[in-house]
Amino acid sequence: MAIVILGIETSCDETAAAVLIDGRIASNVVATQEIHVKYGGVLPEMASRLHLENIVPVVSEALEKAGVSKKELSAIAFTRGPGLIGCLLVGCSYAKAMALALDIPLIAVNHMQAHVHAHFIDEPRPEFPFLCLTVSGGHTQLVLAKDYLDMQILGQTIDDAAGEAFDKTAKMLGLPYPGGPLMDKLARDGNPNACHFPEPKVAGYDFSFSGLKTSVLYFLQARTKEDPDFIDKRRNDLCASIQHTIVRALMKKLEFASDELGIREIGIAGGVSANSLLRSEVERIGTERGWINYIPKFEYCTDNGAMIAMTGWIKYKAGQFAEQTVSSIARWRIGEE
Ligand code: KG4
Ligand code: ZN
Repeated sequence: MAIVILGIETSCDETAAAVLIDGRIASNVVATQEIHVKYGGVLPEMASRLHLENIVPVVSEALEKAGVSKKELSAIAFTRGPGLIGCLLVGCSYAKAMALALDIPLIAVNHMQAHVHAHFIDEPRPEFPFLCLTVSGGHTQLVLAKDYLDMQILGQTIDDAAGEAFDKTAKMLGLPYPGGPLMDKLARDGNPNACHFPEPKVAGYDFSFSGLKTSVLYFLQARTKEDPDFIDKRRNDLCASIQHTIVRALMKKLEFASDELGIREIGIAGGVSANSLLRSEVERIGTERGWINYIPKFEYCTDNGAMIAMTGWIKYKAGQFAEQTVSSIARWRIGEE
């Protein structure tokens, strides 16, 4: 009999659900909460309320598109953490109620581990051990994947995430939230060496982006004092220079880890992996260094239910199920499962 897993994701501002049948994606539905654009960032309370509104139609659509009924489900996987606690609670409660009603097992998924598992949705799939740079609006992690369920965080940001660095500096340039994709677009017509911003200096595999944010702020304050139209005149150059600094900081750690550990299987994941400079740098440096690169399809890079269902499938095969008493955890590190 086919194993049918429903994956539910509600950790931030995407209400998402997907159905996986014997390890293959049968549907993947995402409802993005556009309302946060108006506020320049995600409002946690508003996000939880919208998950409540969205979860029933999103799950129904995922089941319908996959052509399966609730009764055919083998297990329900949901994001247990990390994320916004109110948002996580909606997905967790919904999954628990549904699993109880259907008398099927529950699988608790670590959202960051699921980002790494997104590499197993389509072919080609990385071979273990591989390195995964997971870069999103909330996280920046360099993960050593030794096996499906044996992962180690080598390093992570000690302050802001890479996506946050894109979004916050983009806001200073007058761009709407989330500024990352727009900055990427505007940077194409800019000079990356026009403005110099100091590269973050953090030891080992960790990252830091809050210093960049401050240096961009001071730089803009000084320049707009001399010329109030400075930002409007130089927006493309500013975007290209900021993007260049963020991507260089990310690549430096990936190169360092690859050299130190002698690993050439390299993956990137998370919303920032859509960045065109990051993608081209992974390709360029990868070719120079003999890396085998893996970049999941964009829909599996940003928050989605498919990656949660994939972790669900992996944990199902390993017999790792959750109790009905399972609760959400806002902070849950890979390796602490
Ligand atoms: O993974 P994701 O969809 O959600 C979170 O878990 O945060 O990532 C969203 C982040 C935002 O910060 C957004 O600005 C950034 O990914 N992003 C980009 C690009 N596309 C999305 N940043 C830079 N360049 C892009 N093309
Ligand atoms: Zn995410």
